[in-house]
Amino acid sequence: MFQKLKFFAAVSVVATSALFLACNGQESAQSKTGEKNVQPAAQPAEQPVATKSLVIFYSQNGATKKVAEIFQKARNADVFEIALATPYPSTYDSTIAAVGAQRESKQWPALVNAKADLAKYDTVFLGYPIMFGSFAPPIYSFLDSNDLSGKVVVPFCTYGSGGRKASAAELKTLEPNANVTLAYGISNKRVTAENGSEVAAKEIEAFFADLETGKTDEMLMGGYSEQRPLTAEDSAVFAAATKDYAYLSLKPLSVSTQVVAGTNFLFTCEMKAFGGPAVQTNVKIFRPLPGRGEPELIVVEK
Ligand SMILES: Cc1cc2nc3c(=O)[nH]c(=O)nc-3n(C[C@H](O)[C@H](O)[C@H](O)COP(=O)(O)O)c2cc1C
Repeated sequence: MFQKLKFFAAVSVVATSALFLACNGQESAQSKTGEKNVQPAAQPAEQPVATKSLVIFYSQNGATKKVAEIFQKARNADVFEIALATPYPSTYDSTIAAVGAQRESKQWPALVNAKADLAKYDTVFLGYPIMFGSFAPPIYSFLDSNDLSGKVVVPFCTYGSGGRKASAAELKTLEPNANVTLAYGISNKRVTAENGSEVAAKEIEAFFADLETGKTDEMLMGGYSEQRPLTAEDSAVFAAATKDYAYLSLKPLSVSTQVVAGTNFLFTCEMKAFGGPAVQTNVKIFRPLPGRGEPELIVVEK
């Protein structure tokens, strides 16, 4: 129902597994030599603490919940679903009005469960829908009542057209003492499609690999060609992928590409969302290999 959206807008898992690997290695070496009880007294015994991850999320209409479930399963994590004391109205326009008023007044909504017990978790996956270009207001409420200092925080989101990078940047500002990692994001259209769970699960697997190797957004942009003028083929790809996003009034200006299993297109565009002022933005589109589907819009962002 929110498809017609008119909006422009593990590492600790790694650390933990590295710790486990290290400890396992130590354990087997010790049992092999049979010297378990002859450690010098001066060395404090290392007690590896088995920490679990926690998936914290808010979802109004289920798309973010779908992604949260994938993270939960992938990391066998515990789950904390943020719930509003007074849920948003059921229609899109009234939700826009309610969220707009909350943002305007910075009066964040009351939660049923304001406080999470975070003590036993090193890593928190924090999921939210993008609303007005950043996280949904219930996330501000949650951050007001909980301290993520010292945690590895892995943001993930669903959106109409974009907001992944901007929301992660805001999270970094609000939680300066947390280790906020690269964020995962997927559009509502892609994740709510019939094969949406499989698509997201595959992407999240790749996302974990990116986290483990410490990739940044800048590094992920590597491998693109220089921006060049559009060919007729580029324009056709752009038109096919953006047909449901007329409200953004996107005009492609130039493009660069990256060959993967298919092709990623990065269009530099002029955007006049809702007839507003022209801004320059990037539109990422993926074109699968021939016969494997239509070009699809991945994200609109700077
Ligand atoms: C009030 C409101 C504001 C939104 N603002 C944006 C936005 O600024 N940018 C965007 O790309 N999507 C926006 N969306 C779309 C949602 O991010 C998207 O539909 C999301 O997948 C909803 O997640 P959910 O099903 O978990 O609630 C907005 C949706 C609502 C209801």
